[in-house]
Amino acid sequence: MPHEPSLPLPGPEALTHSAELTRAIAAEIGRTGWIDFARYMELALYTPGLGYYAAGATKLGGAGDFVTAPELSSLFSQTLARQVAQLLAQPSDEVIELGAGSGRMARDLLLALDNLELLPSQYSIVEISAELRARQQETMLALPAALRRRVRWLDALPPRITGLVLANEVLDALPVHVVAWHDDTIMERGVTWDGRAFAWAERPLAAGPLLDRARALSPAPPYISEISLLVPALVRTLACALERGALLFMDYGFGSGEYYHRQRDRGTLMCHYRHRAHDDPFFLPGLQDITSHVDFTSVALAAVDAGLELKGYTTQAHFLINAGVTDLLARTSPDDSASYLPLAAQAQKLLSPAEMGELFKVIALSRGIEGELIGFRAGDRRGLL
Ligand SMILES: C[S@@+](CC[C@H](N)C(=O)[O-])C[C@H]1O[C@@H](n2cnc3c(N)ncnc32)[C@H](O)[C@@H]1O
Repeated sequence: MPHEPSLPLPGPEALTHSAELTRAIAAEIGRTGWIDFARYMELALYTPGLGYYAAGATKLGGAGDFVTAPELSSLFSQTLARQVAQLLAQPSDEVIELGAGSGRMARDLLLALDNLELLPSQYSIVEISAELRARQQETMLALPAALRRRVRWLDALPPRITGLVLANEVLDALPVHVVAWHDDTIMERGVTWDGRAFAWAERPLAAGPLLDRARALSPAPPYISEISLLVPALVRTLACALERGALLFMDYGFGSGEYYHRQRDRGTLMCHYRHRAHDDPFFLPGLQDITSHVDFTSVALAAVDAGLELKGYTTQAHFLINAGVTDLLARTSPDDSASYLPLAAQAQKLLSPAEMGELFKVIALSRGIEGELIGFRAGDRRGLL
């Protein structure tokens, strides 16, 4: 297995785990000699009991590999709660959260919505990882029983939704295809195994939705990038299920124009291991996260095609400021430096363009919702369509 010299090696137990997953992926490749990258990413992240999200790695937080906004600070979910409260129009409305990680956003949101006296009828979590689902259940134990009772876990998306669907950093975790545009042909990049290591290998892209999308994008060759078929498919499914309410996705990425910009000719694939970001998806399978940025134009188009309205699209910094993060921060006096300084540092990370403020975006897609959404009052970027 190739080892990036700058990355720390894990202990023997973790190495054994990674070797076991490597054997499983190699065995699947052995059947045909090649798998597409989306399949590799699915196996590396979600193989039951072995994949990064399906096994015991800490993943989120200081002791893990990466920190998400709700993990970084409760200010994020407390501010988001103001937007959620505006969208929960009827007492019967529910919230559905996809991919809830440690459960921290769910816990903080429910506490904040309780303070605002605008609780959803139910808070449902759809989580693919059994290990994270157990962790979420543990996190919910900290909630008062009256709030805990509203939380449930669903094995599949409900066929009809009235209320709000939320997902923070979930779209970036869905397996992507990797495509190479050459002067005279379009190839799909996949993975081979030579008995010792995984390697990239290209095959002609067969007719189908991936080739159609690759042709429609057609950046100037030579060019390599990712195409997600799962992101628009998931958005379409949710949009069709949504009878009234909104979908709110928070993630890092940009519109198609910026995503497939000529200067971004190596794509956006990124791996996270012990708080270091690098671009080798074959490093220690099962022990590192693999992600790609989100093409928000594809999100918006899938939703609009299914009859939703693009209600807002802006940066995380604009969204949080519009929804009142600075008021929430001002509730703690700067004289109380022990409380104020850590909160101010967290707010800085959430808002700074050099940290999460600019690269992370929030998009709202709605059906039957009148009026302006508070989170999108200034800094509107809906020109992405
Ligand atoms: C990067 S983590 C983000 C966790 C959390 N939302 C946060 O912001 O801290 C991605 C989450 O999405 C979950 N996930 C990935 N694919 C999923 C799918 N198809 N359905 C539901 N959850 C999924 C993962 O198991 C994990 O909980």
